[in-house]
Parts: sequence; C-alpha cells; structure tokens
Amino acid sequence: MRFHYPELLHGGDYNPEQWMEQKDTIWKEDMRYAREAGINTLSVGIFSWSYLEPEDGVYDFSWMDEVMDNLAANGIKAVLATPSGARPPWLAKKYPSVLRMTENRLPNLYGGRHNACYSSPDYERKVQEINTRLAERYKDHPALLMWHVSNEYNNDCHCPRCQERFREWLKARYGTIENLNRCWWNGFWSHRFTCFEEIESPSSIGESVNPALLLSWRRFSTDNLVRFIHTETEPLRRITPDVPVTANLMHTFPGLDYFKVGQAIDVSSWDNYPAWTGDARDLAVSLETAFKHDLMRGVCDQKPFLMMESSPSAVNWHTINPLRKPGTILYQGLQAIAHGSDSVQYFQFRAGRGGSEQYHGAVIDRTGTANTRTFREVAEVGSALKKLRAISGSETRNEVALLYDWNVRWALDDAWMLHRGNQKYEETVLSFHTALSKLGYGVDIVDETCDLSRYRVLVAPMAYMMREGFGEKLKAFVSGGGTLVTTYVSGWVNEELLTYMDADPSPLQELTGVHVDECDALDDVTFGHFSWKGHRYRVKEVAELVTPLTATPLASYTDRFYACKPCFTVNDFGEGSCYYLGARTDADFLHDMLKYVMNEEGVWPLLDDLPDGVTVTARYQGEKRFLFAMNAAMDEKTIELPDAMHEVMTDKLCYEHCAVPPLSIRVLRDEE
Ligand code: GAL
Repeated sequence: MRFHYPELLHGGDYNPEQWMEQKDTIWKEDMRYAREAGINTLSVGIFSWSYLEPEDGVYDFSWMDEVMDNLAANGIKAVLATPSGARPPWLAKKYPSVLRMTENRLPNLYGGRHNACYSSPDYERKVQEINTRLAERYKDHPALLMWHVSNEYNNDCHCPRCQERFREWLKARYGTIENLNRCWWNGFWSHRFTCFEEIESPSSIGESVNPALLLSWRRFSTDNLVRFIHTETEPLRRITPDVPVTANLMHTFPGLDYFKVGQAIDVSSWDNYPAWTGDARDLAVSLETAFKHDLMRGVCDQKPFLMMESSPSAVNWHTINPLRKPGTILYQGLQAIAHGSDSVQYFQFRAGRGGSEQYHGAVIDRTGTANTRTFREVAEVGSALKKLRAISGSETRNEVALLYDWNVRWALDDAWMLHRGNQKYEETVLSFHTALSKLGYGVDIVDETCDLSRYRVLVAPMAYMMREGFGEKLKAFVSGGGTLVTTYVSGWVNEELLTYMDADPSPLQELTGVHVDECDALDDVTFGHFSWKGHRYRVKEVAELVTPLTATPLASYTDRFYACKPCFTVNDFGEGSCYYLGARTDADFLHDMLKYVMNEEGVWPLLDDLPDGVTVTARYQGEKRFLFAMNAAMDEKTIELPDAMHEVMTDKLCYEHCAVPPLSIRVLRDEE
C-alpha cells in the first residue's frame, strides 16, 4: 500500500499520558502550541501500555479517546502506535517468557524497553489482544492516519523457544543435516552435526566464530522478527485494511536486514540523530545523513518515506550534546524532504519532568513554554513545509543505484581475513555515495534482491557475497546495456559463504573480465600508488593483484612488488560494461573515476560542477521536477543553473545561477 497525505507531515512523538493529572492545563496548552508550530501530526501511544492496560485484561481507552478527539478537533492527525516497544512490569511478572535471554543463556530481569522475546507465545497473544482493541476502537476515528508498530524493533534472544525456532528455520532452509554440514563446511574442526538438535545459537560460552552459524543466526533473527511483525500487524490489517503501517527503523542497525523488514510494512520511517557540530565537520555529517536517508528510502522500494524522529535541538545520549546552531533544524528537516521523506517529525513534542530523557531536546522543552529558540525554529520548519506541500508524495527517479546489502555486511563483519573485524564495508559504500553526491547524482540504494532494470548504472563496492540469483541478475543488467562499477573483495563467496574456485568461478569473473590472483592487506603506515591520466593516486588498506582475462587495463600500480599490475580495468559485456577497481583508494580518485565513467556512459548529473559542500537531489510530481540544492558548508555557495528556475519558498525566479547560504537548502522548480 502506498501512503499519501496531501501535506508534508510535521510533528513528533507525543506522550500526553505522562501529564494525565494536567489535562486541563498541559493537554490544552499542547494543542495550542502544536497549532502555533504548524504541527499537523503527532505520534501517540508509543509507550502507553501501562495506561491502556493497567492490569491484565483490564483496559482503559478513555484517556486515549480524549487525546484522539483533541487531535481531531485541532486538525492534527495521529500516527497511532502499538505499545509493544515497552511493557508494564505486571506483564513480565505474570508472563516471564516475554523477557529475553542473553547469549550466555541468562534470563533478563524486567526493565528498559525494546527487549521482548519475539518467540514468546504470551507476548504474541498480549500484543495481538491490545492491537485488536486499538484497531477496533479507532478504526473510524477521524484523527487516525497510520499505524506505527512498536518502537525501533531490534532482536536477539537466545531462550529455548528461540533455539527451537532457529532449528526449525535451519531445517526449512537446509532440509537435511548432511546438507547443512556441507553448506557450513563442518568437516572443519570436526564440527559435523548428527542432528539439528545439536545446534545452538552463537555464544561466547559456545560457538562464536563459525561464520556460517553466525550468518544463519542473523538471517533467522530477521525472519523471526518479520514473523512477529506479521503477528503484530495482523489485527491492524484485518480491521483497518486501508490504514498504512510503518515501523521506525534505525538506518544501518547491524542486527536486521531492513530490506526484508521493509517488505512487511507499507512505509519505511526512521529516526535520524546526526551529531551536528556547528562547524566545518557538518559537511561530513550531512553527507552521512544523506546516505542514511537514501538507504531508508531504498528498503521500501524507493517510495516516499518518513523521518519519524529527529531532535529539534540537542539530544542527550551522545557523549557530548552540543546545542544546534541556528538554522540547523531547518536544514535537517529539509534535507529529509530532499531525499524523499514526506515528513519532519521530532522526538519529542514535550519533554517529561523526569526519566532518562528529561533533558532530551523537545519542541516544548523543560521550561514548558513556547518562548524558546527551539520552538521558533520548529515553527519556521512548519511554515516552510506548508510552502512545500506540493512536494508531498512525489518520487525520486534516480538512474544510479548503489549496492548496500545486509548479508554482505554480515559476511564481511565475521570474515577472518584482511583487516579482521574491520573490513570497512559501510565506510566504503558511504565513500562511493559521497563521491556520487558531490558529483551531483541522486542515488538509490538497493540490495542484491532489488530490481535493477530501472537503473543505468550500478555501483557495487565490496560485493563480497553473491546471493542466489544475483550473478544472473547482474549479467542481465550489464548485457542489456547497464554499467557496473565494482571493486576489490567482490564476488568471493556464494550465499553459503563458500569460496568460488577456478573450476566454479564467481559470476563476477565473466563480468569484470579479470582473475583475482591475490589480495594484500596494508597497515595504516603502508601505502601503494597508481597513476591514471597523469595523476598519482594513493592505495591504502586493500590491494588486489589481478590478471586481466578479457578486460582492458586502465590504470596500474606504480610501486610495491606488484608495480605494473593493473588496478583499474574495464570489460565489455554484451551491450554494457563493467569497471573494476582493485584497490582501496582516496576520495579524489573515486571522484575522478566516477566522473569519467559517467561521462563515458553518458549518464549526466542533476547539476554540473557543484561547488564543494553542495549536493543536489530531485523529486518528481508527475511532470513537475523539484530540485534541492543543499549547502552544508560554512560559507555561501553559488550553483549554476542551465535554465531559469523558480525558488519555491520565495517564488522568485533564478536565472543562470542561485546563491545558497551556508547550511541551507534551496528548493527549485522548473519553469512551466
Ligand atoms: C529514539 C527512540 C525514542 C527516543 C529517542 C531519543 O531512538 O525511538 O523513543 O528514545 O531515541 O533520541
């Protein structure tokens, strides 16, 4: 289901239940302040279980009725949460199976949040019961906009039920124990199992290094959570089939394959907490945030997503929590919109007087008033979003895709080779994203299961694992005219982590046209070099020694014992081409190389020659195109425009160029 609302959403997490005794004052004030700040959406009920069900089977929705009515009366929509992110103490006492067990097999005590066992039948039942009641009660309520299931789902419980489910999952995947032993290469260290019952989840007091076990456990944990999401959403989908479901995700969270989670929800949303510094370092912060936005859009098939949380001022959980300098909150909000979000939401609307988040940034902070810089800046975002309302629901149409795959990441995280424990997969993918952004390309992030047919270029750095069918998909993509750019440490293992051999070569070998002979790991004081088009570039950390089979070398190493061996090649394959970079290098080469490749292939950026610090994205509403020029630098920049464009906020026409002040975003529309 596609979510669409005619306005961009502006609001955040709202916990009126913490102010139950101040309904006549605080609750009323909240609605007034929300209107003043241009807030049209609030997320309610996220941590409300103990108020909604104070005792087992005893429900009280009267206060939530009032909250929902207040929202409706004030023209505010509710992102209504299911409360499974945190439980009341009575629930854990009565149904101890809801508590997780640690990897060294110790049961947790009650406390904290986000720590339920997703295999607990009691938990499944209690969650379904309360969700059924919520859906029945509010199905026709005018405030109900969408469901926000749980909060920041995460996983990893090692209780006997989870072990049992893990074994069932293994049986379904491998069929027989012999097949599992073969796929896991269990002849190694004599670890051949005789039955599935002998298998335990990874643990520091048991098996902690077998890469195949670790990967299977991670895959199972995602599938077990997805199963829980289906259980949790079943009553919502049955009773309110037209109300979309979202879950707030955590960008590159290591424990879950979000591309799979994305298939279980209608809209992806995520919680964005960049560590803005207020100085030149904000450029890097902005580029990393851009990558995360694109990733979160990607996990739900590039549909518009929601920025479900962000801080309207400082957070309280970074080691140092600096204030945001004026303008940062507007930049943070518009950056989300620029990358495909249909919302700017905050954590939190009103700060509580106690609890560990009492000092976390809030629209209404601990002073309890609207007379704050934060409030004024939030209201400014509110007015900006109103002016940009035509953007809501618009889509991105990027021609360039970048591969980020959780299976690859997991496989590399646990691989005993090169820089053990520090293969830098995420950093590497980010470095390519940054290079593409600086060149003026909008980027879609995909994993190996995604459809590639809509792209002209796929950049796939460190695509270490070829999942089932991916090799064929890549071949079809390139032979059909697509361009593939891939790198060192790609195509080494199959979906079961078994290495390819010369007799059974990696599907990438045919595409790249090179044979990878050896791979060198360089420490942080050792560097190599290569030259290309008259420039000398540095090689760091990883250098592959390859022999071209059908590929044409474009650049070769100039030093170390592999001087003269190629490190950058191109291979024609069908109608398309495959570029291969054999060494890790610096941003200067990524920039020059991607510029060259795009030129060769005729794939043009949204804008040419962007000044340093500026990136650009586009969203399309039918034939209408909106361009977002983002300047994360500390000084004003000027961008060149091929045609006159309208600046949407001011409705002024910009001819030839447009000035973008420091840390700010210009939204431009093509002239009609
Ligand atoms: C999020 C969480 C919120 C709140 C926020 C503080 O991760 O979903 O409930 O704790 O962090 O920054």
